[in-house]
Amino acid sequence: MRVIEHEKFENIHWIEFDEKKKKLATVNLSPGNKVYDEKLVEFRGTEYRLWDPYRSKLAAAILRGIKDVPIKEEFKILYLGAASGTTASHIADIIGAGGMVYCIEISSRPLRDLLTVCEQRKNMSPILADATEVESYHALVEQADLIYQDVAHPEQTNIALENSKTYLKDDGKLLVAMKARSIDVTKEPREIFRGEMEKLEEELEILDSKLLDPYAKDHAMLLLQK
Ligand SMILES: C[S@@+](CC[C@H](N)C(=O)[O-])C[C@H]1O[C@@H](n2cnc3c(N)ncnc32)[C@H](O)[C@@H]1O
Repeated sequence: MRVIEHEKFENIHWIEFDEKKKKLATVNLSPGNKVYDEKLVEFRGTEYRLWDPYRSKLAAAILRGIKDVPIKEEFKILYLGAASGTTASHIADIIGAGGMVYCIEISSRPLRDLLTVCEQRKNMSPILADATEVESYHALVEQADLIYQDVAHPEQTNIALENSKTYLKDDGKLLVAMKARSIDVTKEPREIFRGEMEKLEEELEILDSKLLDPYAKDHAMLLLQK
């Protein structure tokens, strides 16, 4: 087994088990602790967490070849729809102790598990709030280098636009995990993505888009900037 830096993205690694099998991983910021059922792997004194693309749409987007993962050490991230922290915890690994992930989640059930994750990781802040009520968390967050949105909500596009107007730095980027079935169950996913991208393009620039099949069916990841 060996560990190789990802060829493009900071603090993201490949764990190569043999010539045919390699998996994404991040360095575990909270050694010994798992967040979901991920595997922990030790290599030369560092603990890595395997990053499951079937559980995290950001890992799926990397495997599908997204052009950029605009996450760097010390970044401030606004995460909309954090659930119990699966993807948010990998982002926390990437930004390191000097960064911060503000985790907005509307539902108290996943938030309970998220609280445990945030106790183990001081660079994650749990916030029980509705991402459609942008002003309600104004006092609890700061301007973001990246907004990561995964809310599975029919108003996903407006949520992305309103939050980026309020919280995105001028040179910041936005990653939107779009779930076609949450927007309209009657239309073809590609048709839905086209329509939502047209709306987003009125105010933001689309840098890349990737379909996430087979990891997340009828989902796309969009990369945008102001
Ligand atoms: C697909 S799950 C997120 C999974 C998570 N991003 C991950 O990869 O680990 C979507 C989450 O969005 C939350 N959500 C839905 N509507 C929301 C809203 N208006 N504001 C904040 N969170 C919302 C749901 O409760 C759910 O936990």
